[in-house]
Amino acid sequence: MIKFKHIYFSYEDKEILKDINFEIKEKERVVLLGINGSGKSTILKIINGLIFPQKGEYFYKDIRIDKKALKNKEFNKIFRKEVAFLFQNPDSMIFNPTVYDEIAFSLRQFDFEDIDDRVKDIADKFGLYKYLNDSPFHLSGGEKQKLCLASLLVFEPKVLLLDEPTANLDPSGVGWLIDFLYDLDITTIITTHNLSLALELGNRGLVLSKNHNIIYDGDLEEFIKDERKLIEAGLVHIHKHRHKHLEHKHYHIHDWD
Ligand SMILES: Nc1ncnc2c1ncn2[C@@H]1O[C@H](COP(=O)(O)OP(=O)(O)OP(=O)(O)O)[C@@H](O)[C@H]1O
Ligand SMILES: [Mg+2]
Repeated sequence: MIKFKHIYFSYEDKEILKDINFEIKEKERVVLLGINGSGKSTILKIINGLIFPQKGEYFYKDIRIDKKALKNKEFNKIFRKEVAFLFQNPDSMIFNPTVYDEIAFSLRQFDFEDIDDRVKDIADKFGLYKYLNDSPFHLSGGEKQKLCLASLLVFEPKVLLLDEPTANLDPSGVGWLIDFLYDLDITTIITTHNLSLALELGNRGLVLSKNHNIIYDGDLEEFIKDERKLIEAGLVHIHKHRHKHLEHKHYHIHDWD
């Protein structure tokens, strides 16, 4: 469904992705791991057709996604309806006067007929019903994140790209999202650098190194057990333990965020 062939991407002279290759099949649950700045958000932006690689090819359902393909209005509409992207920062996605209009926006763009029913139904599922007439800018960070996710899922995309979706959520919100995603029967690609959460979000791990290439693609549980790979990815940290008469160091995989 999604294929990257020898993708290279740079911002000006900064090389962010180096020879990235992978293929994702329909309904796979992929977790994209890597330290800050490794290129996770950049990969999602390419998959969403927001930026284009300088070298290499990206195919969505065997169609090469480049500027020319997305200039075709008919294809652009289909692609935008099928591939949905939840940004790392929900504030950058919100722009409508009310929560209702925020959720309805894409439904109007995509010419849905049952807009009112869909908006109310998803608002109810996401605990946003009571805010429908309020300004989305007045919601809390976690509520904004839920609103952005509701605004995407309401048009039933086939691929959901989530960039650090748990960042603004409290523990009960994280639990809610994990259960919600588990029941979704679509292709999901989720970025995180939180290893303990990763296993709850998918079963295939795609791991970027600090050198911006892929160092692991496979079973996520196996990756998390592989200390050598974890160190290579920079996803473990070392710190000193100070006990009464003893000081020692070892690697940790626990997450502090
Ligand atoms: N528009 C831009 N112009 C220049 N450099 C950029 C731009 N966007 C991102 N970068 C740089 O590209 C690198 C990779 O960014 P990216 O956002 O893909 O990383 P990430 O893996 O998502 O990191 P994080 O875990 O912090 O979200 C970073 O060093 C970043 O500073
Ligand atoms: Mg990012």
